[in-house]
Amino acid sequence: MSLSALRRVLLSRVTSTYTYSTAAAEESRICTLIPGDGIGPEISAAVQKIVEASGAPITWEERDVMAVKGPGGKWVIPADAEQSIKKNKVGLKGPLGTPIAAGHPSMNLLLRKTFGLYANVRPCVSVEGFKTPYEDVNIVTIRENTEGEYSGIEHVIVPGVVQSIKLITEQASRNVAEFAFDYARQNGRKTVTAVHKANIMRMSDGLFLRCCRETAEKNRDIKFNEMYLDTVCLNMVQDPNQFDVLVMPNLYGDILSDLCAGLIGGLGVTPSGNIGADGVALFESVHGTAPDIAGKDLANPTALLLSCVMMLKHLGKVSYGKRIEKACFDTIKEKKSRTKDLGGDATCSVFTDEVCRRVKDL
Ligand code: NAI
Repeated sequence: MSLSALRRVLLSRVTSTYTYSTAAAEESRICTLIPGDGIGPEISAAVQKIVEASGAPITWEERDVMAVKGPGGKWVIPADAEQSIKKNKVGLKGPLGTPIAAGHPSMNLLLRKTFGLYANVRPCVSVEGFKTPYEDVNIVTIRENTEGEYSGIEHVIVPGVVQSIKLITEQASRNVAEFAFDYARQNGRKTVTAVHKANIMRMSDGLFLRCCRETAEKNRDIKFNEMYLDTVCLNMVQDPNQFDVLVMPNLYGDILSDLCAGLIGGLGVTPSGNIGADGVALFESVHGTAPDIAGKDLANPTALLLSCVMMLKHLGKVSYGKRIEKACFDTIKEKKSRTKDLGGDATCSVFTDEVCRRVKDL
């Protein structure tokens, strides 16, 4: 299958509009589960419990991803985790901690590089029943996931002077731009906005923008806009409803997607999917390990749960995904079992049990 055909199949599966066969819905699937660090194990256990309550035919293959050194002293993903993801092609991942300015590199980055997860998709949609200053937000950020400022190429030039390389390639820029237009079409969206600073970083962001423009030329059924990152930030907090699908290089995507998460209630409710070229898709909550609340049964499992909903839809198990999503939103809407980050006083366990109760009744 060609790369573009494969991309079309993968894309159609992250949408809710795709028509799935009943066979796909009922077929049992093995998925890799990386519980992660900090609150990761608590929220992963919550998600497993809810999936079980929904009756979704998922078997979890649990793997730890901690930093290990491979041959030649290079940091690698543990072999059993790598094999599991390669075999199953689909996984759900909790947050992984990264030491600051020392120690092992980000295992998130390593996962993205190992599996060529070139596009990070984050739908930021207002959570029904949870009021924020912004109403009816419905934005998707698509972030180039493998290069830019996060290429991990850094060195000391002379003591006191360091250099980080921002790497932008035509291939990765084109891949993510094509993904954004395909995604927009598959999801009935109208506009793709390329976010950049090509006025300052003329060569790197210039190349990214050129790839977006050329891709837009081939996808004239979708409206194309280009905007400076700073203008997008300003306009986003003034009126997020003017945006639809946004595509951007890695660092801008990291920051802007968190900003968008803030519009709908924060990191605790925002899911994401990482899409790779060889059919691998890893779904993950966008928040970190939350060390301040780890082990206290205070975490909100919603972001990981909604990431799991994206995963179920990707696998064709749309009806299970929709039931879980409804049970989760109904629980939040009813207010009694909200976790602290959403203004309530429920523990992670109480929230989880309430979602389980509701999902069984649907
Ligand atoms: P963080 O997202 O872990 O925490 C920021 C704030 O949000 C904290 O007050 C935390 O309690 C709260 N929070 C986060 N998730 C929550 C949830 N599910 N329920 C309730 N409250 C929640 O960000 P921070 O502190 O900057 O990072 C901690 C560690 O996580 C670092 O080592 C960082 O590298 C890592 N990290 C990992 C990510 C990943 O694996 N995708 C993403 C972001 C950070």
